[in-house]
Amino acid sequence: MRILVVGATGTIGKAVVEEMKDRAEIICASRSKADIKVDITSVESIKQMFKEVGEIDALVSAAGGVHYTSLETLTPELNQIAVQSKLLGQINLVLLGLPYIKDNGSITLITGVLMDDPIKTGASAAMANGGVHAFVKAAAIDMPRGIRINSVSPTILEESFEDYGSMFEGFEPVPVKRVALAYKKSILGAHTGKTFYVY
Ligand SMILES: NC(=O)c1ccc[n+]([C@@H]2O[C@H](COP(=O)([O-])OP(=O)(O)OC[C@H]3O[C@@H](n4cnc5c(N)ncnc54)[C@H](OP(=O)(O)O)[C@@H]3O)[C@@H](O)[C@H]2O)c1
Repeated sequence: MRILVVGATGTIGKAVVEEMKDRAEIICASRSKADIKVDITSVESIKQMFKEVGEIDALVSAAGGVHYTSLETLTPELNQIAVQSKLLGQINLVLLGLPYIKDNGSITLITGVLMDDPIKTGASAAMANGGVHAFVKAAAIDMPRGIRINSVSPTILEESFEDYGSMFEGFEPVPVKRVALAYKKSILGAHTGKTFYVY
């Protein structure tokens, strides 16, 4: 089994790699430190990545930038960060990656708790999460060749709490291992069109 992990050097990506490394050949991609360089905000870069990587059994995304700021200071330009990266970046991974995914393969994207349990400054992130969530649900019934598609929606992670915890008052953080297990279920299981909530 060959798994392409986009965002493989991040907190979630690293945990997914660790969880799956004994079960598959893992190909790690990100903008800077991974073996395969890709910027998901660029269609050309995504095309180049898939050309380089070739056929895979599973596409995993643990990448997607968003900008946190109050609604009054959220400009159209700042909102584009989440649109171009977390929303369209991940959707373009699916659209451009489909021909490279083997029959009965799988796709797993990332969303997050803010689409369900909002915080101030989180509207742009919530928009991207909700868009990816809806796309996955609808795309699942239109997937060719038995390919499955799911998303994982984590709450704030224990591992990220030091950096972002002050924005998430009252949230109970979860260990990243639980998120990696949700990806594992999506990759090795039978579900499609599902959101794996890790709350
Ligand atoms: N951490 C949490 O508590 C938490 C909770 C819920 C949801 N999430 C969501 O989960 C996702 C990953 O979070 P994380 O905490 O693991 O983030 P992270 O530690 O910052 O890692 C992000 C990963 O994605 C890559 N990346 C970022 N932008 C990219 C781009 N444009 N193209 C290709 N690769 C890119 C990064 O590498 P390069 O910088 O080298 O590209 C890195 O490998 C985010 O969308 C986040 O909103 C996180």
